Amino acid sequence: MTLIKAVNIKKYFKNIKAVDGINFEVEKGEIFGLLGPNGAGKSTTISMISTLIRPDHGDIIFEDKSILKEPKSLQKRLGIVPQDIALYPTLTGNENLRFWGNVYGLRGKELKRRVEEVAEIIGIKDRLKDKIEKYSGGMKRRINIGAALLHEPQLLIMDEPTVGIDPQSRNHILDTVLKLNREGMTIIYTSHYMEEVEYLCSRISIMDKGKIIASGTKDELIDTIKGSKRISLSFDKITEKLINAIKMISYIDKVEIIEKEIVLTTINGETIFKDIISKVSETDSNIISIDVKNPNLEEVFLHLTGRALRD
Ligand SMILES: Nc1ncnc2c1ncn2[C@@H]1O[C@H](COP(=O)(O)OP(=O)(O)OP(=O)(O)O)[C@@H](O)[C@H]1O
Ligand SMILES: [Mg+2]
Repeated sequence: MTLIKAVNIKKYFKNIKAVDGINFEVEKGEIFGLLGPNGAGKSTTISMISTLIRPDHGDIIFEDKSILKEPKSLQKRLGIVPQDIALYPTLTGNENLRFWGNVYGLRGKELKRRVEEVAEIIGIKDRLKDKIEKYSGGMKRRINIGAALLHEPQLLIMDEPTVGIDPQSRNHILDTVLKLNREGMTIIYTSHYMEEVEYLCSRISIMDKGKIIASGTKDELIDTIKGSKRISLSFDKITEKLINAIKMISYIDKVEIIEKEIVLTTINGETIFKDIISKVSETDSNIISIDVKNPNLEEVFLHLTGRALRD
C-alpha cells in the first residue's frame, strides 16, 4: 500500500531548479532512500513532503489526501529529523526532549514515559542530565532523532542523519533505523553515502540536479549497468608511471587509488585483463593480486552522470 507519494513536484529558488518535477511513491512499512550528491535537491524534497515548504507545482498525497490541502492529516503522524540540528545548547538532553515533546502535545506522565523510552531507543540514557553543549556531534544527532520519535510517528523522515559523526554513533543510528522499521515505522532516508542507502533501503531513488535519474531496488539499479566491472588490483608498489599506464586504457571509466590498491571501473570487461597485464609490464611494478568486485550504486551514479557521487 502506498503511504505517501509525490506527483510531479517542483521548487525553484529564483533561477535555481532545486526540485524539477519529481515523482515517487513510498510504500507503507518500507525504508525508502533518496540518494544524491550535495545540492541534488534532497532537503528541498524533504521539506516539501514534511509540509515545511510548499511546492511551486505538483501535489503530495498522503493516504489519498493532498497534504497541500490538508497538511494536518500528515503533520501529527510525521517525525522529521532535519539535516541541521535543532537543539538548545544550554539545556540538557532531557530538557530538550521535553521541549519537543511539549511541541507535539505530550504532557505529564506520558511525556516523562516517552522521554525515557526514546532515550533508551537512541542509547543516551546516561547522558540525559548533561547540557547539549557538552555532547559530541554523534550524541547531538541522536537527541535530534529522539526528538522526532517522541509522538510515535508513523512516518519518519531523516535528512542525512549520519553526516560528520563518529563511527560508533553512526552504527547506532543505522541499527536504530532498522529496528524502528522492523517495528512498523515507514522511513524516508536521504543520504549521499551510497553504503548507507544500500544497507538500509528497500527501494532507492537517485537524485541529481533536481531530478530523479533512476529508481528501484538496489539490485534493479545495479542491473542497469550490467556488464560493468569493478576490479581491484594490488601491487608491490604504486608509482606515477603505473597509474598513468593504467589510465591509458581508454575504456576505463574510473581509477581510484585506495592504499596499495588500484580500483578500476569499466563497462568493457572483455579484454581488460589482457590490457592491464600488458600495460603493467611496461612499468616496474608487479601485480600481487586481482579481485573482481560487484558494482555498487556509486558506479550506477557514475554511469548515469559521468560524475562521482562524492569527490
Ligand atoms: N532557501 C533556498 N534559497 C535558495 N536556494 C536554495 C534554497 N534551498 C536550497 N537551495 C538550492 O537548491 C539546490 C538544492 O538544495 P538542497 O538543499 O535541496 O540539496 P541537498 O540534496 O539537500 O544537498 P546537501 O546534500 O548538500 O544537503 C541547491 O542548489 C541549493 O543551493
Ligand atoms: Mg540537504
